[in-house]
Amino acid sequence: PLSGLADRYGRVATDMRLSLTDKCNLRCTYCMPAEGLDWLGRQQLLSAAEIVRLVGIGVDRLGIRELRLTGGEPLVRADLVDIVAAVRLRHPDLPVSLTTNGVGLDRKAKELKAAGLTRINVSLDTLHPGTFAQLTRRPFLDRVLAGLEAADQVGLGPIKLNAVLMRGINDHEAAYLLDWALRRNFELRFIEQMPLDADHGWTRQGMITAAQIRQLLEADFVLSPDPRNRDGAPAERWEVRRRQAGGVPEHTVAGTVGIIASVTEPFCGDCRRTRITAEGRVRSCLFSHEETDLRELMRTGAGDDAIARRWQEAMWAKPKAHGMEHAGLDAPDFRQPERTMSAIGG
Ligand code: GTP
Ligand code: 5AD
Ligand code: SF4
Repeated sequence: PLSGLADRYGRVATDMRLSLTDKCNLRCTYCMPAEGLDWLGRQQLLSAAEIVRLVGIGVDRLGIRELRLTGGEPLVRADLVDIVAAVRLRHPDLPVSLTTNGVGLDRKAKELKAAGLTRINVSLDTLHPGTFAQLTRRPFLDRVLAGLEAADQVGLGPIKLNAVLMRGINDHEAAYLLDWALRRNFELRFIEQMPLDADHGWTRQGMITAAQIRQLLEADFVLSPDPRNRDGAPAERWEVRRRQAGGVPEHTVAGTVGIIASVTEPFCGDCRRTRITAEGRVRSCLFSHEETDLRELMRTGAGDDAIARRWQEAMWAKPKAHGMEHAGLDAPDFRQPERTMSAIGG
């Protein structure tokens, strides 16, 4: 019998990422088509009770130690606060975090904190309203900034920001974004754009690589490796010092910046993630081509044992690596998944 969520390559998944919905109120070009997608129907989504049950199975039987709620946009789910509260009630010590685009967070931050949410990560690619509207196809920058401020005030930190850089769109903002984040004590992470968009518009040339990101920052900052253990996290962390006039770095560390180099410096070997899609299917990897349905098992009366076993089997088959480092090159062993990032759950 398998123990925990191990795979055949010796990795053990202890982080559970659960998508609450495939819907979103933005249309980021690197993720969704302008017209949106065919959203799942209410019956297709896991119910709050089913979500709480799956988290319970993960924590009580399969060694899950951290839960992250994702989407689509998790805030568009009307029962989000109830879900957080119910999970918290059953698992007082489980870290429960949220990845959100921040739209609507200003109205929900306080309730989420009160319900027991541990911390949040917010997507923020630009600080220019026009660029935001171009990139997300919605004019909501102010709402995101209001959401960030609210979350900060109620203590949903340490807050991390996720920024995907795209050539000619927001890459010139990299240093400004970092300066802005440092002043507010947010931990900014730059993310290499991955081929997960609906339009299949990703190109190797359009992607800003981790090496280029470091270069963009070097004019204004000095980066040195953060001594803290990376511990299976996607982001490689750097300590940053500001440059004074003449380029000399300040003595004091201003903060840290993360770089998530999924394409050019893959970290699959250390992956600890298991994913559940909004309709209750296990994805062993962001880039899996297979999914394992747990929802029908639950709805046809299966017991926790049977569900746990199916989840373990799905994870045992986790691919060794995504092969994305070869995407767009001559001999690709990479195939883009059918689903977009929003439908997988970032
Ligand atoms: P913490 O570091 O614990 O705050 O969480 P996180 O960084 O894992 O969570 P978040 O949802 O903010 O994810 C940030 C980015 O990490 C995503 O947008 C992805 O680009 C990347 N990421 C997360 N999980 C995976 C994964 O399994 N594989 C790859 N290649 N990238 C991932
Ligand atoms: N490549 C990299 N990151 C992406 N995200 C969405 N689509 C992509 C992509 N194609 C990021 C969002 C959000 C996180 C959940 O995933 O910016 O921060
Ligand atoms: Fe929505 Fe996030 Fe996709 Fe943007 S990246 S469209 S915010 S799910």
